[in-house]
Amino acid sequence: MCGVVGYTGRKQAAAWLLDGLATLEYRGYDSAGIQVVSSSGNLHGVKCAGRVADLRERAAAANPEGTCGIGHTRWATHGAPTDRNAHPHLDGSGRIAVVHNGIIENFQELKRELMATGHQFRSDTDTEVIPHLIQEAWEGPAKGDLAMAVRNACDRLEGSWAVACVCADVPGTLVVTRKGSPLVVASTDDGAYAASDVMPLADVTSHVLQLNDYDVATLTSDGAIRIVDRDGRVVDNPTSFDIDWDASAAKMGGYSDFMAKEINEQPEAIERLLKDRLGEHGIELDELSLSRSELAAIDKIVIIACGTSYHVGLIAKVAIERWAKVPVAVEFASEFNYNEDYLVTDHTMCLVITQSGETADTLAAARRMRGMGCTVFAITNVLGSTAAREADGTLYIQAGPEVAVASTKAYTAQMIASYLLALRLAYANGRMTLAEVQKHYRDMEQVPDLMREVLNRRWQDKQASQRFRDKQSSLFLGRNVSSTTAYEGALKLKEISYLHAEAYPSGEMKHGPISLIEGGFPVVAIVPADHVHDKTVSNIQECLARGAVVIAVATDGDEKIAKMCQEVLWVPQCPDQLIVPAVSVIHLQLLARYVARERGYDVDKPRNLAKSVTVE
Ligand code: F6R
Repeated sequence: MCGVVGYTGRKQAAAWLLDGLATLEYRGYDSAGIQVVSSSGNLHGVKCAGRVADLRERAAAANPEGTCGIGHTRWATHGAPTDRNAHPHLDGSGRIAVVHNGIIENFQELKRELMATGHQFRSDTDTEVIPHLIQEAWEGPAKGDLAMAVRNACDRLEGSWAVACVCADVPGTLVVTRKGSPLVVASTDDGAYAASDVMPLADVTSHVLQLNDYDVATLTSDGAIRIVDRDGRVVDNPTSFDIDWDASAAKMGGYSDFMAKEINEQPEAIERLLKDRLGEHGIELDELSLSRSELAAIDKIVIIACGTSYHVGLIAKVAIERWAKVPVAVEFASEFNYNEDYLVTDHTMCLVITQSGETADTLAAARRMRGMGCTVFAITNVLGSTAAREADGTLYIQAGPEVAVASTKAYTAQMIASYLLALRLAYANGRMTLAEVQKHYRDMEQVPDLMREVLNRRWQDKQASQRFRDKQSSLFLGRNVSSTTAYEGALKLKEISYLHAEAYPSGEMKHGPISLIEGGFPVVAIVPADHVHDKTVSNIQECLARGAVVIAVATDGDEKIAKMCQEVLWVPQCPDQLIVPAVSVIHLQLLARYVARERGYDVDKPRNLAKSVTVE
């Protein structure tokens, strides 16, 4: 959600700012803009509603010159996605420009106060108060010191922000700061860079610095970065990390879209995750930073997540309860945050699942759990993300950059990561022998090849996608862990094809959703060979009797399903019931993608959605 970039150095800024914004497109946005400062002290801005490609066209015509500048992709919260509301926003003098990611909760009071002293506003955004506050400080107590002016202004703000600011009076200086919203900076021979995440930086450096909340960084054209903390002390050794994938990982590399690439990358992602995880004491999970006895003492686990990651949580619950016999509650972060009566035990562990590590609701819930005395463990994909920094331990799934908004490889990798945790717990608390842990690990090692087999059967998904032509709605059914696969399949279909999809545990169908079914209505039934297979078969029959078209996800050799259903998406035999969700979901990812493409939609950037949801 919203992307911020900034550059000061030897190169022309506009070209990199535009490229940087293009790599941040995946975060979700509806308008974009840049502001460049020329060496003679002129500000030149270009902004528009629409895509970065539209901005590029306007920038090509306007040709803003200068080697220092800021850029922004905006996901509208306050004010419609219009040219006027697009960032950057300027102060009253037109000499200070600001881009901002986050929400200023007290902007109305601040705006009233500023207007009372003569400030005039041009947009409906909360952001616009920031350049005006910086102007007040710049012309007042902080004169001549942009970093101090930014700090003074931010001291007045409530909410969350990642801010980048340039000023025509100090060309070549870029000031950035953050609280709650992500921001990283990097120093190179070419100059200094700032960005919401590492994606735009992967082309220019492999080493980035993190800012803590309230840190203010001054970047200058020689590449120097000076960071000062909230108390005004210089931060000599800021936290830093290396980007552990090369820039090509974030490029399409011959695929027609990122979603296709990421679906295909799942086998390798799981291989990376599993590598070297089995040791003589079971699963190696040093990231947990808990001793065996501390692990054994855990008597409840609360999983906090949103969206697709929440679905991982539902499957993780089954694995942890089945293997480690520890009771698990799975909570939507947004619901948990407003449940005042939540109960934890003395030894409750909080497991946070978030691919971006920046989801505002999830972060708030994790902080609350920690406040309740729980150890917080995070499963995430993004190095140095807020969830990782705030957790007591973090397991990185190492899936590589996931650019498509709809999560695919992060979903399956998070699932396998949660299995590693479940096995680690089960061995620590004595519920599983080493031999049993080894057996489950070997089962997981089969996942990549099983996934490859499903990927080779993509023609089945393409064929089945025709069944959704001209349809308005659909139903996804499954039992036990397959009900979660149904939820995930329905979510994928909804988010990228804009086709309504309702997911239900099969047995619940008769209690309401069955009334949706009429001639030609598509029902996707996940019916692998397991102990509830025949129960789901009965539900399929009930759908067929009412004229539904049933697209089954079934195990190779299932003659009954082959005879009954109009389409079958075949899944190879899996060594354990908990392996099935990681393999069968690939059909549903492919199916959703084919349906969306058939309908002519951009599968990577579905409307209204953002990759990391940084507002509550
Ligand atoms: C859907 C999807 C979202 C995210 C959700 C939470 O494909 O990706 O539902 O799962 O917004 O995001 P994270 O995992 O980053 O906390």
